[in-house]
Amino acid sequence: MGDIAEDEASFYSNAEDYWREVPPTVDGMLGGYGSISSIDINGSKAFLQKFLGEGEGKTSPVCALDCGAGIGRISKRLLLPLFQTVDLVDVTQEFLDKAKPYLGEEAKRVGNYFCCGLQDFKPENGRYDVIWIQWVIGHLTDEHLVSFLRRCQKALRPNGLVVIKDNVSYEGVVPDEVDSSVCRDLDIVRRLVDSAGLRIVHEEQQMNFPKEIYQVHILALR
Ligand SMILES: C[S@@+](CC[C@H](N)C(=O)[O-])C[C@H]1O[C@@H](n2cnc3c(N)ncnc32)[C@H](O)[C@@H]1O
Repeated sequence: MGDIAEDEASFYSNAEDYWREVPPTVDGMLGGYGSISSIDINGSKAFLQKFLGEGEGKTSPVCALDCGAGIGRISKRLLLPLFQTVDLVDVTQEFLDKAKPYLGEEAKRVGNYFCCGLQDFKPENGRYDVIWIQWVIGHLTDEHLVSFLRRCQKALRPNGLVVIKDNVSYEGVVPDEVDSSVCRDLDIVRRLVDSAGLRIVHEEQQMNFPKEIYQVHILALR
């Protein structure tokens, strides 16, 4: 009986143990692929700019949430340049401690640093224009991912967007014992998004990443 609960507890605690040993650097955030950070950020900027702006249906550039933010690699180069205020949430306190010096002067526009697993995190209702969730969904069980996405939807302001950017497998669920995560295929991710009651409004594949890594897809949801 207790086995599923125990497996779930160790799935999360093993991931926490893994990330506590990772250096708080861009290379650490990207598993040794620090060199792809600029391609990643430029792809994300082009994606997000399709939605931002003034006028009917446009997403306001007021407040964003960086989920699984780590040291704030995405906050620094994507979110803080575009939004007035950015909140960061991550389960690893050491990364959030590093975020303040890493973000430099712009750290004054960080609203909150939340140290919390996304499985337990409750974003404030109606606070965010964009909730950016990158390279972290594989650390959540299906059930927790669905319930987190539901809470994210409630946390959006009018015309707000939830964005998932993550690795996708060719087929099925591929576990990674090293960092205690899973990689899901795109159909599974789409199904989980649908169960959360969110709709995919735009979807793209990130181009120009190294051939040997998983494909990375970006999904805009509301
Ligand atoms: C691959 S790094 C990506 C960091 C950042 N999103 C980026 O792209 O630079 C994964 C991050 O997820 C965090 N993380 C792992 N499990 C988590 C969980 N259950 N809830 C919140 N953050 C988690 C880790 O501490 C780490 O900072």
